[in-house]
Amino acid sequence: MIIAIDGPAASGKGTLAKRVAQHFGLPVLDTGLLYRAVARDLAARGFRLDDPWAGAALARSLDPATLDDPHLRGAKAGDAASVAAKIPQVRSALLQFQRAFANQDPGAVLDGRDIGTVICPNAHVKMFVTASPEVRARRRHAEVAARGEPISYEETLADILVRDTRDAGRGAAPMVRAVDAHLLDTSEMDIEAVFQAAVGLIMRKISQ
Ligand code: C5P
Repeated sequence: MIIAIDGPAASGKGTLAKRVAQHFGLPVLDTGLLYRAVARDLAARGFRLDDPWAGAALARSLDPATLDDPHLRGAKAGDAASVAAKIPQVRSALLQFQRAFANQDPGAVLDGRDIGTVICPNAHVKMFVTASPEVRARRRHAEVAARGEPISYEETLADILVRDTRDAGRGAAPMVRAVDAHLLDTSEMDIEAVFQAAVGLIMRKISQ
């Protein structure tokens, strides 16, 4: 069973993907980390974040063991990732890895922006998790403040709006809800309610 969870920055899709994966005993891939790691590797070697050839080469040689680097979690890494992620050559270089992960036995949960539309158009269950920019900014700000990152709520909101525009506006695999994805608007839901809704959707699919 392949479960595709897409949505904008700080929508809660990552937390949801982890909980769903744990519940159903499936491996999970946070595909945002792949783009974050490519951006990190480009910067570390002195390349521009939108260099298509260096980006593709580094994406092809990405070592998945480096994805648990804590530096990849920060706001700057997310912003840099969204610049590298606009490059079609980078996206195609990461495609195979993501498809192979999705197609392992007995299945997988993947979260990102284009899982239901491009990476796994035949996923068994697709969800598009979203929330208002203000709610996402509040959640993200609380998270980064707890880590001690000195960033204000206003800056967090501005970052989220820039990232939304960049991710939804790019030509290559833009962030968009797949026509057959279930919309989960989490603006007024806590993670437990979102998790229960997702489990309900998946169980209905399994019993069909
Ligand atoms: O999900 P996360 O915020 O970690 O993603 C960082 C950036 O990577 C996103 O803003 C987006 O530009 C890019 N991304 C993408 N496709 C995915 C996952 C992430 O373009 N499947």
